[in-house]
Amino acid sequence: MDLFEYEAKDLFAKHGVPVIGGAVVTTAEAAGAAADEIGGKVVIKAQVKAGGRGKAGGVKVAEGNAEATEKAQGILGLDIKGHIVKKVLVTPASAIAEEYYVSFLLDRANRTFLAMASVEGGMDIEEVAVTKPEALARVAVDAIEGCTPAKAAEIAAAANFAADIRPAIEKILCQLWDVLVKEDATLVEVNPLVKTVEGDIVALDGKVSLDDNAAFRHSDHEAFVDNAAIDPIELRAKEHDLNYVKLEGEVGIIGNGAGLVMSTLDVVAYAGEEFGGVKPANFLDIGGGASAQVMANGLDIVLNDPSVKSVFVNVFGGITACDAVANGIIQAVAMLEANGEKVTKPLVCRIDGNNAEEGRRILDESGLDVVVRVQTMDDAARRVAELAK
Ligand SMILES: Nc1ncnc2c1ncn2[C@@H]1O[C@H](COP(=O)(O)OP(=O)(O)OP(=O)(O)O)[C@@H](O)[C@H]1O
Ligand SMILES: [Mg+2]
Repeated sequence: MDLFEYEAKDLFAKHGVPVIGGAVVTTAEAAGAAADEIGGKVVIKAQVKAGGRGKAGGVKVAEGNAEATEKAQGILGLDIKGHIVKKVLVTPASAIAEEYYVSFLLDRANRTFLAMASVEGGMDIEEVAVTKPEALARVAVDAIEGCTPAKAAEIAAAANFAADIRPAIEKILCQLWDVLVKEDATLVEVNPLVKTVEGDIVALDGKVSLDDNAAFRHSDHEAFVDNAAIDPIELRAKEHDLNYVKLEGEVGIIGNGAGLVMSTLDVVAYAGEEFGGVKPANFLDIGGGASAQVMANGLDIVLNDPSVKSVFVNVFGGITACDAVANGIIQAVAMLEANGEKVTKPLVCRIDGNNAEEGRRILDESGLDVVVRVQTMDDAARRVAELAK
């Protein structure tokens, strides 16, 4: 999960990294009022989970209520790389002497953590990284040892920070490492980390990506979850504890076991080429021991996706044998219809494995016209793609 700048800075502050507060508001009028309250020059910053806000016109300096209101008006509603600005941060403008870049991230390719730092931070850091790679220091950080004071000194030296600010920079590096480890983040980035004309070192921006797999040990991170930004169907699946991911196609997919579902996506995409590029509409794994209720929840979610034209139910009977799965499909349709949801989209079912013969017989004799039973996975993929077309 990526955080907004103001959320990232709240985490920074919790671990001692110097930041400057401000007000997060959703209207231009409130931005004007916040500017009044802060007094003097303020910066109005688009809060979107995308980089390059400054270059996109999402960061503006203003002074006083009227100007702040006008600038906020221009930023709210702006489209920055596909993200619409719904809130802005109003924060005191810092008198910047120099802009630096520092980050810690998980370096999967090298199976380690990586620190990056540069004294040429700011909005052009991406360009610096490409055209002057020597200006961006990269130092591996061992997961067990972490960012010790000696490691922080190594990073600051590699990036050529001036001697007078090194103690402050090294302290902040250790604090940012703390954010990464204690908050279970996979990325902690500050661009720019600035030196003000008064000589203070302050994080003026912040990017943090949290590792969702560790969410269970951070109940306080729940406040960061932005339900409004999550796809409504994904939200509903989450409420039912289903592993669902929305995709862009028109064939709904339900399977048991992540590997089987992944293969199903592949065969449907492949078969769909013949029908003008029909593609899977979702990933949905209902798990090994799925009951009729879980099948009904899964079908309900997939059938409620307006882009779904046909559904592929691909189940390999194991602990839950095929006859139970077949009865589950029939009961699931009955449950939906009892809820007033008429099931009209074709359900192409392929079931195999434990008790397959019995399961197929149950489906064949169910009398449900929406159920299209197909013997093999490839044939089922072809049939479901054709029906979606
Ligand atoms: N509080 C502030 N006071 C003065 N200048 C600021 C302040 N916040 C940001 N700036 C200026 O605006 C620039 C862009 O802001 P910021 O880095 O927060 O957004 P960004 O463009 O989205 O960042 P990135 O390119 O890292 O994604 C900064 O490099 C800095 O020069
Ligand atoms: Mg930035």
